[in-house]
Amino acid sequence: MTPGKQSFFSHHTLEKNIGLMIIATIVVVSMAGLVQIIPLFFQHSTTEAEAGIEPYSPLRLMGRDVYIREGCVGCHSQQVRMLQSEVQRYGPYSTAGESVFDHPFLWGSKRTGPDLARVGERYSDAWHREHLRDPRAVVPESNMPAYPWLRTATLAGQNVAARMRALRQLGVPYSDQDIADAPRALEGKTEEDALVAYLQGLGLAARKNMPAPAPGTGK
Ligand code: HEC
Repeated sequence: MTPGKQSFFSHHTLEKNIGLMIIATIVVVSMAGLVQIIPLFFQHSTTEAEAGIEPYSPLRLMGRDVYIREGCVGCHSQQVRMLQSEVQRYGPYSTAGESVFDHPFLWGSKRTGPDLARVGERYSDAWHREHLRDPRAVVPESNMPAYPWLRTATLAGQNVAARMRALRQLGVPYSDQDIADAPRALEGKTEEDALVAYLQGLGLAARKNMPAPAPGTGK
């Protein structure tokens, strides 16, 4: 080995050359990141739907889009963390396999209001409607905004088939028949109907898959 080569690969070269140091640091940190992240793309637990998780029905899919448009995610997370207090309050903690049909996912991180990942069937449809039209009518201390216009906004003219086709490209297994039948499922429905249907389905499969929290510790 020549003396020149030896000095290039020494710590001396790296520590005296900030450009090289930055590049070497980026390489090392990215390798460490990739080793953690890449396997997640291939693990069944993160890429396959958990038992009972189905693609959204057309009505629930439209409700999800209303949820996104109205910015509900800015105040509500949909992610129960693996902490005793969270599991007792909300129900079974969230898993990656629950969100495989969510594009984009709505885990969120801001909780001005409670987490909604397990809200399905916790209240009646009538409660949700009243709550959306005027939150303070059912929860006097609520600071949630009212969404009264959803009651009269219809889903007419919204292209659900195009949305489903786009989701199919991302791997959601909608059949041609599902897509062809979708517009009929929305006839006469309002945005409020869709949003309530969406909320009422949240977390049902997870609650079936995992044992309920002990009595008296959660809903
Ligand atoms: C400015 C913050 C804010 C926004 C935006 C918001 N919420 Fe809320 N939400 C709250 C708060 C605070 C509560 C708790 C008080 C109450 O029940 O009204 C709540 C409660 C709820 C509950 C009852 C949850 C439970 O477990 O009791 C539901 C369901 C809900 N919100 C749905 C929605 C939907 C759907 C949207 C979008 C259309 C939305 N929220 C937008 C703040 C917000």
